[in-house]
Amino acid sequence: MLKEWSDVYSIGIPEIDEQHRCFFAASHRLYNEILDRKGKEAVEGAVSFMREYAERHFSTEEAFMTEHGYPDLKDHLQQHAAFFRRLDILEQELQMFGPTQDLAERALDITQDWLIDHIADEDMLYSLHIKSGNAA
Ligand SMILES: [Fe+2]
Repeated sequence: MLKEWSDVYSIGIPEIDEQHRCFFAASHRLYNEILDRKGKEAVEGAVSFMREYAERHFSTEEAFMTEHGYPDLKDHLQQHAAFFRRLDILEQELQMFGPTQDLAERALDITQDWLIDHIADEDMLYSLHIKSGNAA
């Protein structure tokens, strides 16, 4: 199910919150391109956009965590790496089966829904770390 961006997902760092909002938008674009059934190429474009946006966003987060000496950086980076592995699998399935309803639902699951959980379980932790006086 498509979800609207909400301030509930905010971690209180404006630059990161704005990127999370755009991450949502990239996720919705991917979902809609799959459902539009204009073919693999349109979906490939949306997958590439999602991948590039995630790379940019994760580098911003990684720089933040490094700058503030976040102790669980390594675990957090593993979560980011796992995101790309799931996107790779989605892309392989797109090649094999084309843009199906099932693929659209899974795309939303591994991008939008993943981000919601990741914000609550991981991003909130580095935000708290930074705000608890470990700011550089
Ligand atoms: Fe993250």
